[in-house]
Amino acid sequence: MRTQVGIIGAGPAGLLLAHLLHLRGIESVVLEARSREEIEATLRAGVLEQGTVDLLEESGVGERMRREGMLHEGVILRFGGLSHRVHLAELTGGRAITVYAQHEVIRDLVKARLDRGGQILFGVKDVSLLDLDTKLPKLRFHGADGAVREIACDYIAGCDGFHGVSRPSVPSRVRREYTRVYPFGWFGILVEAPPATEELIYAYHDRGFALVSTRSPQVQRLYLQCNPSDAPGDWPDGRIWDELHARLAGNDGFKLAEGRIFQKGVIAMRSFVVEPMQHGRLFLAGDAAHIVPPTGAKGLNLAVADVRVLAQALTGFYASGRSDLLERYSETALRRVWRAEHFSWWMTSMLHRFHDESPFHHRLQLSQLQYVAGSRAAATMLAENYVGLPFGEN
Ligand code: APR
Ligand code: PHB
Repeated sequence: MRTQVGIIGAGPAGLLLAHLLHLRGIESVVLEARSREEIEATLRAGVLEQGTVDLLEESGVGERMRREGMLHEGVILRFGGLSHRVHLAELTGGRAITVYAQHEVIRDLVKARLDRGGQILFGVKDVSLLDLDTKLPKLRFHGADGAVREIACDYIAGCDGFHGVSRPSVPSRVRREYTRVYPFGWFGILVEAPPATEELIYAYHDRGFALVSTRSPQVQRLYLQCNPSDAPGDWPDGRIWDELHARLAGNDGFKLAEGRIFQKGVIAMRSFVVEPMQHGRLFLAGDAAHIVPPTGAKGLNLAVADVRVLAQALTGFYASGRSDLLERYSETALRRVWRAEHFSWWMTSMLHRFHDESPFHHRLQLSQLQYVAGSRAAATMLAENYVGLPFGEN
């Protein structure tokens, strides 16, 4: 088999890349270890930056998002028993976020590819990357039927997430990795209940962080800072509600609606970047190259930003034979990656309790929150990072 761009992974990065390349007349094959049903059912955060929304719309896959997604022009910081709204749109010249779950984005992209005859091979096993230093790199794998297959490509895009095979295929002597693991996790639940708030609430409390998000008018998504080693069994429903009520309590009448909890899970908190994001004819994009803690809601958006840059660079190569954009892919993508890494680390540091740290540190966090809530300059810093800087301005 032969294709122009071999893509490993049918997450947001791989699927959107395949779609953008198709729009520019470039052929690709996507290899995915899981089934279509599995990738479409994996629940993940759903905060889309303005630039992500614009790109999905421009490329013809925004129709359901526009209908079903929820536009939020503000976000709430809650501490000291009070809510403080950061007016995203007013502070950023009209930019906002759209809440639309990641698996919905995946469903829209899979449909767009398959409707246009795109090739996504689901259920493949044992993918390996060969000849990355040559002009004809190859992907070898077992197809869903068990047979060994090989695809020769001009380029390979490693979009296979944090635990994929692409990043380890870059020799360790040319790979530099930056990691920070946080001493806490998030306990996430899905609840059958009406929304408690129109906008997302990021709460800082003596007992730890809490986040009130939403999935639909009937389903709410809530998170609590927890120990990273906690398991769902450590959190019976009563304990979850007690903690959420305590961390969101205030004197302003805010009330969290309870409901049936139908999903529980613990999320690890980590920052990670690999440099460079390319080697020979392999380009890494999305979680394969970097991880952010979820506090800044940047994971999906960074994956989208990477493949936007990569699709442009590949288009430059196929349309006019230029290779300079491909050569600069890593450098270009990393500027936005590090901005998002900093913002995600900053939000995480401001909003969580670090139990090994002193009361001095706690006071600094409160002062930082008060500054963001009270100063237009500080709030603008949060707002423009949260809605996402315009592409090319980071
Ligand atoms: N072979 C084939 N497919 C693989 C392999 C492999 N060896 N390893 C992983 N995959 C697939 C996974 O099954 C998954 O569907 O690659 C896909 C990677 O998708 P994501 O992990 O969603 O990564 P990405 O597309 O970069 O999107 C980043 O996802 O993890 C969230 O919060 C993160 O929102 C961010 C987004
Ligand atoms: C979510 O809705 O799952 C969500 C929202 C905001 C975040 C993280 C997760 O920062």
